[in-house]
Amino acid sequence: MNVVHVPVLVEEVLEFFKHIEGVFLDCTVGLGGHAEAILSRIPNSVVVGLDVDEEALDLANKRLERFVFAGRAKLFKSSYVDAAKVLKELGFDRVDAILMDLGVSSMQLERAERGFSFNRDGPLDMRMDKQQTLTAYDVVNSWDEENLSRIIFEYGEEKRYARRIARFIVRNRPIHTTKQLVEVLARAIPNKHSRNRHFATKVFQAIRIAVNSELENLKRFLAQVPELLRPGGRIAIVSFHSLEDRIVKEFFRNEPRLKQLTKKPIRPNESEISSNPRARSAKLRVAERV
Ligand SMILES: C[S@@+](CC[C@H](N)C(=O)[O-])C[C@H]1O[C@@H](n2cnc3c(N)ncnc32)[C@H](O)[C@@H]1O
Repeated sequence: MNVVHVPVLVEEVLEFFKHIEGVFLDCTVGLGGHAEAILSRIPNSVVVGLDVDEEALDLANKRLERFVFAGRAKLFKSSYVDAAKVLKELGFDRVDAILMDLGVSSMQLERAERGFSFNRDGPLDMRMDKQQTLTAYDVVNSWDEENLSRIIFEYGEEKRYARRIARFIVRNRPIHTTKQLVEVLARAIPNKHSRNRHFATKVFQAIRIAVNSELENLKRFLAQVPELLRPGGRIAIVSFHSLEDRIVKEFFRNEPRLKQLTKKPIRPNESEISSNPRARSAKLRVAERV
């Protein structure tokens, strides 16, 4: 399948990065969309790109082939939590800029067998890193009702029906596929049609965050940022839901070694949202190392 991942808020990110020279750490290189923009538009830049998804890295390596050959793109299978280790092996103590583009790539959503999408029937997987053992199947079929209810409430921000949804899931186990889960949710969730998002959105988000420890990873990485960025260096983070955005906002606000450059998050304009629906909930925050 030929998948193209259209990077979100790319012009806005470049606006903050354009005067920076040197090493860019792309924590979530994905299909290489942002990395390609940085490499082709910022002269002399070098991108160290990380991802835990090997399929994504293969596609990024193809997209960035000319830069890989030129030694300007260096891609590694690694969690961004371990970025310091990768950088050290390359001989870099600090970098000049950091980009995080959180969330799911178009490739992950479009490949039914990855189990990320409620619009495609696939196994309950949702692992970004296929070497990890915990899958969405395990969460859905073996976590107790209390825990399911907690993640649906906290990570799915489903404040009203979390308990009811968890009860329906537990009563209908085993649930093997995304389609079966959507069918259970259709029975569990009242007022499906009054919602402006697909009724399965929040529960799928909750399970994905739990499977991939997304919020813990983000917090663990942010704590390292002041040591990783050289003074004057910048960090740009694109987030896709309020839980991530809140973590980033509070971190930027409370970390004395960072100065926020975006008082309010930057949102995509109407034309970007209409041409790329994935951009709809994106928010960009940028800070500078003082
Ligand atoms: C929205 S996509 C990035 C898309 C990319 N900016 C582009 O333009 O093609 C997010 C990526 O982050 C990756 N990811 C998720 N958790 C990660 C982690 N802990 N460390 C590294 N990459 C991670 C996912 O596998 C996914 O490919």
